[in-house]
Amino acid sequence: KVVTNEELYRPNFHFTPKSGWMNDPNGMFFYKGLYHLYFQHYPDATVWGPMHWGHATSKDMITWKEEKIALYPDEKGYIFSGSAVVDVNNTSGFGSLKNPPIIAMFTYHDEVKAKTGAIDFQSQAIAYSLDEGMTWTKYKNNPVIKNPNLKDFRDPKITWDAIHKQWIMVLAADVETKIYRSSNLIDWELASAFGKNLGVHGAPWECPDFFPIKVEGSTEMKWVLLQSINPGGPNGGSATQYFVGDFDGKTFTLNNSFTQDLNKYGALWLDYGKDNYAGVTWSNVPDSDGRKLFIGWMSNWEYANKVPTKNWRSAMTIPRELKLINTDGHYRIVSLPVKELDKYISKTIKKELLIIDKTTLVVDKSTVNMSRLEIRFTLNGLKDDNYDFILSNKENNAIHFGINKKDKYFYMDRKNISQTSFSDEFAKKISKAPITSDFNSIEVIVVIDKTSIEVFYDNGKTVMTEIYFSDKPMESFSIAKANSDFELKNVFINQLKF
Ligand code: FRU
Repeated sequence: KVVTNEELYRPNFHFTPKSGWMNDPNGMFFYKGLYHLYFQHYPDATVWGPMHWGHATSKDMITWKEEKIALYPDEKGYIFSGSAVVDVNNTSGFGSLKNPPIIAMFTYHDEVKAKTGAIDFQSQAIAYSLDEGMTWTKYKNNPVIKNPNLKDFRDPKITWDAIHKQWIMVLAADVETKIYRSSNLIDWELASAFGKNLGVHGAPWECPDFFPIKVEGSTEMKWVLLQSINPGGPNGGSATQYFVGDFDGKTFTLNNSFTQDLNKYGALWLDYGKDNYAGVTWSNVPDSDGRKLFIGWMSNWEYANKVPTKNWRSAMTIPRELKLINTDGHYRIVSLPVKELDKYISKTIKKELLIIDKTTLVVDKSTVNMSRLEIRFTLNGLKDDNYDFILSNKENNAIHFGINKKDKYFYMDRKNISQTSFSDEFAKKISKAPITSDFNSIEVIVVIDKTSIEVFYDNGKTVMTEIYFSDKPMESFSIAKANSDFELKNVFINQLKF
């Protein structure tokens, strides 16, 4: 049987569009047992083009059903990124209390106007759905926020602010985040702006998200702003920085102070790998669940249009739960794969202890399928040394990742994976993330799909997500010898079924 390009590279359990181009996740909300995911979509080609909102639904954020296209571009422009909320109290008046409307807010990108040299070609618009997100009607008086003469003015993300009893919307506006408020999702008032002199700049900010979140183990409430930027990421291209602070209903004030090590990286980054961009959180997750659920676009504008897939392009990350922790006065977001992934474990191989005194095989294709796997372990007895993990096959295609404790960074290196020549940027450099605390023991979770690896260090304090394309599937996972012996404890190799 001929292995088509599509079969070779389509992930087993990460969301991909059936065909055509995909970028940012959009409009995610939860309603009546279904998680909705919309996405930047160009159905007619596998490169970026006139943007639509594609649509998919899922009961668990892992198995998705692709639905009909939700929003098509029209004479006002392409449908750029945005968000959606269930308007439970019908504040907008588009529905009723019995059948609450779903309100989507998106950016109209007027490509015709852009070509004339004008700069005010992006504005904010709304649409509503009265059938639980399946079909949409665009509001007749769009746009609801006109362009104030800014070239980059896009990606509205709405949150119900239960503390101040108002709708809040954040927008990427040139080099800052603008915060708007509203009582009805139609009339928006500019409340404040944030970030001109904070975090990483040098390129447009895109796709913000702004939400309250409880600090783990306390009753303290903080607000988190996710703010993507492209380019400007810590390892090149697209990435998402975040800020933690307080919000008085109008103004966001920064709290988090960076340590020296973090400062080298310019900001706190949600993910230090090259492939997690424009990610935002689900709205209307019930209080009884209480989680902050996140998904990102698992690619990078440096090469997204060139990756070697044929009928479709791009996947989403594994959905993640975000939490906020406070360690010694520093607020940090931690992310971990959602617990729903555990339901897909078909077999577990457990090893209590592996003493690593030479290069050691952890698992290979004789016992598991290496293309749908989760591996969890604790590294113990670490010295100032380098701890290298290798996902590889016998053709010597390999991803290296691990901990360089000596020089204080986590890393990911895909230069020995076979397919890299489609872009100069894809494997040019080793991706790095800062190590900011001293430890001799650390927990690691690795999620491996056919074409991606997501590594969660230290209970999700540092994350590195990267995609890869190898000619032959990966066959083994091993550890290179370090200068001194160390231990691998509580190794769980979870085979995932799909
Ligand atoms: C981010 C982004 C958004 C924009 C969309 C267009 O990846 O550039 O700012 O709305 O993609 O597809």
